[in-house]
Amino acid sequence: MSFPHHRPRRLRTTPALRRLTAEHRLSPAELVLPAFIREGLSSPHPISSMPGVVQHSAESLKRAAAEAVELGVGGIMLFGVPKHRDATGSAAVDPDGVLNRAIVDVRSEVGDDLVIMSDVCLDEFTDHGHCGVLSEDGTVDNDATLAVYAEMAVAQANAGAHVLGPSGMMDGQVAVIRQALEEAGHQETAVLAYAAKYASAFYGPFREAVDSQLQGDRRTYQMDAANRREALLEVELDLEEGADMVMVKPAMSYLDILADVAAHSPVPVGAYQISGEYAMIEAAAANGWIDRRRAIEESVLGIKRAGANIILTYWAAELAGWLKE
Ligand code: PBG
Repeated sequence: MSFPHHRPRRLRTTPALRRLTAEHRLSPAELVLPAFIREGLSSPHPISSMPGVVQHSAESLKRAAAEAVELGVGGIMLFGVPKHRDATGSAAVDPDGVLNRAIVDVRSEVGDDLVIMSDVCLDEFTDHGHCGVLSEDGTVDNDATLAVYAEMAVAQANAGAHVLGPSGMMDGQVAVIRQALEEAGHQETAVLAYAAKYASAFYGPFREAVDSQLQGDRRTYQMDAANRREALLEVELDLEEGADMVMVKPAMSYLDILADVAAHSPVPVGAYQISGEYAMIEAAAANGWIDRRRAIEESVLGIKRAGANIILTYWAAELAGWLKE
C-alpha cells in the first residue's frame, strides 16, 4: 500500500481541524469521582499525598456530590473511613456505619442525578487492613470473606447505592454479591466488578486516604503485574458470575490490559486512575516539571483511547469543569 500524496500533517494545521478529526474526546458523563468520607469529621481533612483531595465530612461530601451533578459528572464512588476497626470489619455491615450513612446522605442529596457507587471491600474497616477476614494462620480466608461481602453489599443497596464495586479480589465475590442482592429484593442494583485489579505500588497514597492499617501487601489476592492473559480469565469469571460492568485497575501502567479487556468485554469497561497516578502528576506539576492541565488531560485521554467507557479519576470534577469551558 502506498499513499504518495498523503500528508498526515494537513489535518493538524489548525485547532479546528484537529478538533474535527479527533478520534476520541472526553466528556464529563463518563467520569466518576472517587470520594472519601471519614467518620466524626466536622470539616474536610486534607490528604497530604494527594494534594487537592480530602477526607470529607458528611456535609462536605454532600456538597461535592451536588457539585458533581452541576458539572455533569457521571458518578461518584464512595469509600468510608470508620472510627473503630475490628478483625471482621463489622462497621462495614452496620447500617449506621460511616459508609452506609454516607450513601443514604448522598442519595438524598442527588437522587438519581448521579450514579452512586460504593466500595465493597473490608480493608478500610479491618484492624489488620486486609481486604478480607483472616484465618488462624493469618492468611486471608476467601470464603469467610464472601459471607461478609454479601452482607455488606445488601447494606449498601439498602442505603441506596445504584452500583456496588467489589474491589477485594476474592474468588467468587461477584456471584455471592449478586445472589445476596437478588435474595434481598435488590434486582436493580448493579455490580461494577473490579475484575482485573493488580497488586500495585501506586496505591500508596490511598493508604493514607483511608488511614490503612495494612502491614505487608495484598499479593495473595490481587493480580501479579507480570500477568496479561490472566486478566481475561478474571473478566470471564466475573461476567459468568453476573457482573454488569468490569474494571481494570490501576489504569496507566495497565493500558495493555485495558485494551485487551475492552476488545473482549460485552459489558461496559471501567478503568481506575488511582491515587499514585494522581500523586505523580500533581507532584511533578507542583515542581514545575510538567504542565499540569495538559498532563491530566493527556493521561485521561490515554485511558479512554485504550478502551475505557467509564473512568474513575480524582480529577473528575475539575476535568468536567474544563470540558464545559
Ligand atoms: C481496596 C481499594 C484500594 C483502592 C481502591 N479500593 C486499595 C488497595 O487495594 O490497596 C485504591 C485506590 C487508589 O489507590 O486510588 N478497598
